[in-house]
Amino acid sequence: MQTKIEKISPLSALAVNNIEEVSQNGVDFLSFREKLSFANISRVDKRVEWKGARIAIKSALECISLPYPGFFKDEHGKSHPMDGYGYVSLTHTKGIAAAIFHKDMPVGIDLDFVREKVVRLGPKFLDPSEIAFLDNDPVLHTIAWSAKESIFKCQGKRGISLKNNILLEPFTLNDSVIIGKVYQSDFSDHHYQVRVDREKDIVLTYTIW
Ligand SMILES: CC(C)(COP(=O)(O)OP(=O)(O)OC[C@H]1O[C@@H](n2cnc3c(N)ncnc32)[C@H](O)[C@@H]1OP(=O)(O)O)[C@@H](O)C(=O)NCCC(=O)NCCS
Repeated sequence: MQTKIEKISPLSALAVNNIEEVSQNGVDFLSFREKLSFANISRVDKRVEWKGARIAIKSALECISLPYPGFFKDEHGKSHPMDGYGYVSLTHTKGIAAAIFHKDMPVGIDLDFVREKVVRLGPKFLDPSEIAFLDNDPVLHTIAWSAKESIFKCQGKRGISLKNNILLEPFTLNDSVIIGKVYQSDFSDHHYQVRVDREKDIVLTYTIW
C-alpha cells in the first residue's frame, strides 16, 4: 500500500507508512515514557512496526496542524493523547503501519493482509448471518475481520467479542463504507461506519463520522 497522509476532515486525519521508508527516522519526538516502551521491545521487527505507527500518527497530526503530544495506554491497551485532547488509533503489520486521529470522536483503524485461511477462521469471528453474505471469499472475509477490529479498537474495551458483540450489515466488494454495530453488551446500540481502502492484498479499514 502506498505511503499517504490524508486529511479526512478539519478534525481528523490518517497516515499510512511503508515501514522500510521510515526505518531510519529518529525517535526524538517520542515522550520519555514512549522512549522507554520502545527500548523495551526486544524483537527488531516489532520495534520498527511500533515506531512506524508513531511516525504515522505524528504525520497525521501535522496534517491538521497539531503537535505530537505523546501517548499512554489505558488498562485495555488503547492509546490516549497525554494532553487529554482528541482520540487516536494505531495499527501495524509486516512492512506497514497506519494511524488515525480525531479531535472529537473515538476512532479505530486496522490493516490486514488478505489470506486464504481467513475463510476457515470465519466461524470464530463471524455471526452466521455474516458468513452467509461473505460467500467463502477471502477478500470479503478479510474486510469483515478488519472492519470488526476497527470497531473493536474504536470502542476500546476488552471483553467485546468480534463474533458475538459486533455485527456487520451485508456488503460487497464494491462498497467503500460498511455499517456495523456493537450489540448484546454494556455498549449496545453503538453504530459505526467503517471506510474500506483495499490495495492489492492489503486491506485498510477505519471508522468515520
Ligand atoms: C487489541 C487488538 C485489536 C490488536 O489488533 P492486532 O491486529 O493484533 O494489531 P494491530 O497492529 O492492528 O493493532 C495494535 C494496536 O492496537 C492498539 N490497541 C491495543 N489494545 C487496544 C484496545 N483495547 N482498544 C483500542 N486499541 C487497542 C494498540 O495501540 C496497538 O499498538 P501498539 O501496541 O503499538 O500501541 C487485537 O489483538 C484484539 O484484541 N482483537 C479483538 C479481540 C478478539 O476478539 N480477537 C479474537 C477473535 S477470533
